Amino acid sequence: MAVALKDLAPSPLDGYTGLSDAECDARIRAAKAQLGDRLLILGHHYQRDEVFQFADISGDSLKLSAEAAKSDAEFIVFCGVHFMAEVADILTRDDQQVVLPDLAAGCSMADMANLRNVRRAWDELSQVIDPDETVTPVTYINSAADLKAFCGDHGGIVCTSTNAKGVLEWSFSQREKVLFFPDQHLGRNTGYGMGIPLDDMVTWDFDKPMGGLTEDEIKRAKIILWKGFCSVHQMFMPQHVEKFRKDVPGGKVISHPENNFEVCQASDYVGSTEFILKTVRAAEPGTHWLVGTELNLVNRLHDEMAPKGVKVQFMSPMVCMCSTMFRTDPQHLAWALESLVAGEVVNQIQVEPKTAASAKYALDKMLEITA
Ligand code: 13P
Ligand code: SF4
Repeated sequence: MAVALKDLAPSPLDGYTGLSDAECDARIRAAKAQLGDRLLILGHHYQRDEVFQFADISGDSLKLSAEAAKSDAEFIVFCGVHFMAEVADILTRDDQQVVLPDLAAGCSMADMANLRNVRRAWDELSQVIDPDETVTPVTYINSAADLKAFCGDHGGIVCTSTNAKGVLEWSFSQREKVLFFPDQHLGRNTGYGMGIPLDDMVTWDFDKPMGGLTEDEIKRAKIILWKGFCSVHQMFMPQHVEKFRKDVPGGKVISHPENNFEVCQASDYVGSTEFILKTVRAAEPGTHWLVGTELNLVNRLHDEMAPKGVKVQFMSPMVCMCSTMFRTDPQHLAWALESLVAGEVVNQIQVEPKTAASAKYALDKMLEITA
């Protein structure tokens, strides 16, 4: 088998891959101490424990965006995924630098929409309706910066799982329809919760001409939902909820809105990762919760709540972790931080200025609505 030259070349991480987690811990602590206030580590709730413990601030996408925007730190190390680091770069000053410890930490849902297929959808819609007059484009924050820029340039906006309802209300005050990408489930669950019937929401299959829809379906639709989904949340099924209801009468079910419609309808509560944590942390002792979101968050919540007499159970019988969130390990974090100590910014995330300006416009609108 031929070996590519790049496979033989030394990697800057070579000195780190053999380090144990305990060795990394000590080196991360030392680098953090040396960098002091110059450094802010942001950690999403889905990060593994070995990394999560080093976050100065943890949160959901909305909270972490707002924290990045108000931070004065020279270096923001984002333990999360690529789109989150892009948002941090867009919302921070030019003299602040954002680092993603492993550049392979993407989001498979974000990859389901790209500028080429969203532009094509906009062009195809314009054969049937005038999208610039009648459609507000809304992108979930789980998307690349150029899609946020597309929304900024077309009278649209960004949303997160926390503010999707307020963002959709604003969107309908602007234009009569919404094109919502990339997560069909967040769009459908939010739209339905606002009283929009399922029949008024159509799914745009980006692999088919005209999204696989008829002219009439497009004209009648209130929300056009991109056919994207989260590979982690698609593992949760309504039968998991049904079994829990049988096994644990009086138990509570809480889910993330990236879950499918049936799972969300069967749940007692639906909300962002931050909402899930707040709700379960406020639960009465003796209660039992089935939680439909990523495993690292659920395991930590289980361990935190067990001594308080609150039982937390993961929704799926299978292990479902976000494999891209998992990419950020202590070795990458130690490398990124020690490089900063040595005066080298590695894995910097920099959004091209024109894209960043348009994306910021759409993000700022979202933050205004949320404030
Ligand atoms: P939150 O904003 O609710 O943390 O969700 C982010 C995410 O990617 C969930 O899969
Ligand atoms: Fe993306 Fe799903 Fe991972 Fe969230 S859990 S970052 S939506 S792949």
